Amino acid sequence: MTDTMKSKKLPAWAGGVIVLLVAAIVALIGLLATSIAERRWEAQQPILVSQNIGQFESDNAVWGADYPREYDAYKKMGLDDTRTMYGGAVKRDYLEEDPRQVILFAKYGFSKHFFQARGHTLALDDIRETKRIKRPFNAGTCWTCKSPDVPRMMGKFGKEIDKATRKEGEKEETDPIKLIGLGAAKFYASNWHDLDKDMKHPIGCLDCHDPKTMKLRITRPALREGFAAMGRDIDKATHQEMRSLVCAQCHVEYYFKTDEAAGKKNYLTFPWSKGTSVEGMIEYYDTAGFKDFIHPISKVEVIKSQHPDWEMYSTGVHAYRKVSCSDCHMPYRSEGGMKFTDHHVQSPLLNIENSCAVCHRWSETELKTRVETIQTKVANARIKAEDALVAAHFDVAAAMEAKVADAELAPVRKMIRHAQFRWDYVAANNSMGFHSPQESMRILGDAVNNAQTARIHLARLIAAKGVIEAPKYPDISDRKKAMDTVKSFLAGTPPKLLP
Ligand code: HEC
Ligand code: HEC
Ligand code: HEC
Ligand code: HEC
Repeated sequence: MTDTMKSKKLPAWAGGVIVLLVAAIVALIGLLATSIAERRWEAQQPILVSQNIGQFESDNAVWGADYPREYDAYKKMGLDDTRTMYGGAVKRDYLEEDPRQVILFAKYGFSKHFFQARGHTLALDDIRETKRIKRPFNAGTCWTCKSPDVPRMMGKFGKEIDKATRKEGEKEETDPIKLIGLGAAKFYASNWHDLDKDMKHPIGCLDCHDPKTMKLRITRPALREGFAAMGRDIDKATHQEMRSLVCAQCHVEYYFKTDEAAGKKNYLTFPWSKGTSVEGMIEYYDTAGFKDFIHPISKVEVIKSQHPDWEMYSTGVHAYRKVSCSDCHMPYRSEGGMKFTDHHVQSPLLNIENSCAVCHRWSETELKTRVETIQTKVANARIKAEDALVAAHFDVAAAMEAKVADAELAPVRKMIRHAQFRWDYVAANNSMGFHSPQESMRILGDAVNNAQTARIHLARLIAAKGVIEAPKYPDISDRKKAMDTVKSFLAGTPPKLLP
């Protein structure tokens, strides 16, 4: 008994062999599975190296011939009838909705024409239509975020400059990014109207892709330089970072810098050398002594914020968890078993299933409600900051009426300058606070505090002149009334604010 049992028992080494065999089989199946997955992926991959797209091809349709799925989705950005509670592509007139902004941007272009952004394919139509473009001269720089003809023209200027300045025996520059860098200054310094005929295609493929490899690529020199100013090298960015940085070429705060000594005119610059926070930018602009306009009501030197989307996003929980702009605005889509990137860049609330639900297991209604609740809180705080700011501008006017000296007003005006930039940093941002709710509220809180502190100082300065009654604030309850008030200040016949 014991013997037979013994003889049936496997030898000691057999266990080892079985383990090895099982391991080998598992490994083989694994290899097969990866191979199948890879094959499937290869089959799905578009022709990644295109033969016929030129180094500076700006025509999106030419790229579209090789990449029809991306191009078809891209073209959907021509639709502009979508609307969400605070966004969408519908042409929303901010000034009709909020006459306070007519006062805050008084005299400046934004008080005349300020519409909600639409899709990328409409960018050229919209810039050609805006009343903010001046004649006879307007900076060529204004084209920079509107067209893939921008890198093309910068490259063309770069080639000419390379040819003219190249010394005997030196090699011709052929790297497209270096050529773009060489030609940028000439592009910015050009007259907007002279470049008009060359701006043929709206924002597109060449802006984000290298035509030879289809890799994501930074074509705008200002972003490279902005990174360098912070001591960072954009060429070291990870692939996931690039999925946001391609957007940061345009969706950022910027200004036009003129430095005659350095041969720079209207040179597109991101004010990042002291960081991308609102405080860093205020410090930057104060040091540079920069202003966009002098406010006609208060004589405050105002800095107009553009749209620091990337900067604001960078402070939020999604950036912290490495979720990129593209994850929400260009989510993956499947069609007939093919997975590709949705090139219809739009409000993610119009496509919650692909944009958010891949990570969040909440229902669509829940996700949408969550976003709208955040946005409404920010929108309300924003209005409170506007009310405080509008009153602060009028309080300065009242102080001027009471003949308070300019020297006494200077520190107060600076406070209002900072308050307005803080408010605008949030207001000009897209997404109504969703990209970083806490940071938006923090900044609006500081804006209200700056504006109200200024008003306390002003009340004291006016009281010292013997007036203790509150100023009588003009009626700005609709766009026309607000505009008429601005005009009366511009004409030098402001309403009487003090008794
Ligand atoms: C976690 C998802 C998410 C990320 C990441 C994200 N966004 Fe958004 N974005 C949104 C949502 C939600 C809205 C609000 C849309 C609305 O109100 O209809 C929005 C709004 C916008 C809008 C305005 C669109 C409209 O229709 O009003 C722009 C422009 C925008 N985002 C750009 C960016 C950029 C640039 C980045 C990266 C720097 C980015 N977003 C990162 C979710 C995201
Ligand atoms: C070359 C500059 C440029 C780049 C690059 C760029 N944008 Fe834009 N974007 C714009 C401009 C300009 C508009 C406004 C167009 C208009 O209103 O005519 C805009 C509009 C938008 C809108 C509003 C569309 C809508 O339907 O409401 C969203 C969302 C947006 N961009 C997101 C992104 C994201 C995400 C990226 C990166 C993947 C990106 N953009 C890259 C310049 C750019
Ligand atoms: C605003 C930037 C932007 C623009 C403009 C843009 N793309 Fe893309 N594209 C992306 C991003 C982001 C990805 C995802 C890349 C990744 O993660 O590797 C992508 C991926 C792709 C891919 C790889 C396959 C896929 O779908 O994921 C192709 C092909 C492509 N784009 C073609 C085009 C074409 C054609 C155009 C012009 C009609 C275009 N792109 C315009 C940002 C852009
Ligand atoms: C690629 C994954 C991913 C995508 C896509 C994504 N999220 Fe998130 N989301 C996250 C992560 C990760 C967090 C942080 C959660 C945590 O750390 O607990 C988060 C947090 C949030 C929060 C909580 C914010 C806070 O301040 O606490 C909300 C709300 C949210 N997401 C909404 C959305 C919406 C709406 C979309 C689509 C427009 C979206 N998310 C898309 C990954 C994602």
